Amino acid sequence: MSNLYCAMALSLVLSACGAPAPISPVGTAPPPTNEPEPEPEPTANWVPPELWGASTLEDLDDDPNVVEVRLTAAPIWIDLTDEIGFEGYGYNGRWPGPTLQAKVGDEVVVHFENQLPEPTTVHWHGLRIPDAMDGSPRIQAPVQPGETYTYRFVVPEAGTFWYHPHVRSNEQIEKGLYGTFVVREPDHPKLDAERVFVLDDILANGSGLPPFLASHPEQVHGRSGNVLLVNGRVAPPRFNVEKNRVELWRIVNTANARTMMLTLEGATFAVIGTDGGRLQEPYYPDRIELPVGQRYDLLVVYDRPGPVRLLSHVFVVDENEEVVRRPYELAVVEVAESDYVGGPIRWPAVTPRSARSVDREVVVELSGANTPNGIEWTINGRRFPEEPIFTFNENETVHLTITNLAGPEHPFHLHGQFFEVLDEAQPGLKDTVLVPGLETVEIVAYFDNPGRWMAHCHILEHAELGMMSEIVVEPR
Ligand code: C2O
Ligand code: CU
Repeated sequence: MSNLYCAMALSLVLSACGAPAPISPVGTAPPPTNEPEPEPEPTANWVPPELWGASTLEDLDDDPNVVEVRLTAAPIWIDLTDEIGFEGYGYNGRWPGPTLQAKVGDEVVVHFENQLPEPTTVHWHGLRIPDAMDGSPRIQAPVQPGETYTYRFVVPEAGTFWYHPHVRSNEQIEKGLYGTFVVREPDHPKLDAERVFVLDDILANGSGLPPFLASHPEQVHGRSGNVLLVNGRVAPPRFNVEKNRVELWRIVNTANARTMMLTLEGATFAVIGTDGGRLQEPYYPDRIELPVGQRYDLLVVYDRPGPVRLLSHVFVVDENEEVVRRPYELAVVEVAESDYVGGPIRWPAVTPRSARSVDREVVVELSGANTPNGIEWTINGRRFPEEPIFTFNENETVHLTITNLAGPEHPFHLHGQFFEVLDEAQPGLKDTVLVPGLETVEIVAYFDNPGRWMAHCHILEHAELGMMSEIVVEPR
């Protein structure tokens, strides 16, 4: 029922949106462009490659192995379309926040300032860093309005990660607080381009954002939006390329609830990386199911001239009142004929993971109940912030059988660790896995990072309504 509700809202408002107008956040981020930027000054330091689709946080430090940045969360005015404008939140006046770019082993120092009218923290989604720096409000006292906090950690591995608040995240992320965090190997190869596609959908109307968690469907399914966004702007961005160019696309789903079903038409692509970094072997799916929280790195080869379209296949209600998937454009690329021949791309080797035997097996039950106070969501019968659901030992390998006892799906997310899904169609290390309604998913998790870690549903409304727990990993 509420799926229909969201789907109808999407089809209605997408067609009612009219011509997309660029967002003009207070910080005046320029819209992403396809124009070549001037060559950077030659320098002995490692310089991250240009990243299309996002601004980069300026490194204030001269040390080549330290990335020191300032990050300020504050309200910003967002003009989404001619009709839709509202006060949202931004990092450094931008929506999405600027990208943090670092290389493996760098020390990252983030001077964070909270100029919001409410407390917040910053969580570095996917990074296996010490728990004290993870932004968990159970460990770190939330940063109060007007206060500052310095996050300091070493980035342990390469991949596409993201950052966002971990306090009232269903509101703070929806209002615009999220950004990508790209970590590269020092010998990361040069590609013809690297692009980020931060996918989101927001629920907006003429007067802005409707109240949070107010409707029953929103409590049941999470908040699905009516406007699809790529890099903070109404989709689709358009750009031009030449045939034979090879690019790396980093795709992140930062929506509150919407699982995206993606296809890429008109070019050849391979999945080369997942949440936990590069795969040993690329694979070539027809479509990609991208639940909220997850990331995919694609190698895209423009092997023919003509249009290339990144599509999201969204549930809508058709003329016969049937629920069908309908494609919406997330990005449109025009590929021009050319005799360009690029050089070979030499990726650093991926160290094969040694096989590990399972030390322990546990069951995780995701459930929900209707109560006089509305819907309550639980993990193993508990609601945040009760006691931890498990205590493991550092370096334990744990088989988790995750069963969804209710109808709505749950993208289950583990902080501070990676796992593998026991499903050939989902290779690679992950920190988030989709558990469809009334189904069971098996994962093998590597609890190599000691500390107190949140484990929760990444549908932010579910997390807020209780589906958020903690797992303790005791140091050896
Ligand atoms: Cu991206 Cu605990 O979250
Ligand atoms: Cu959920």
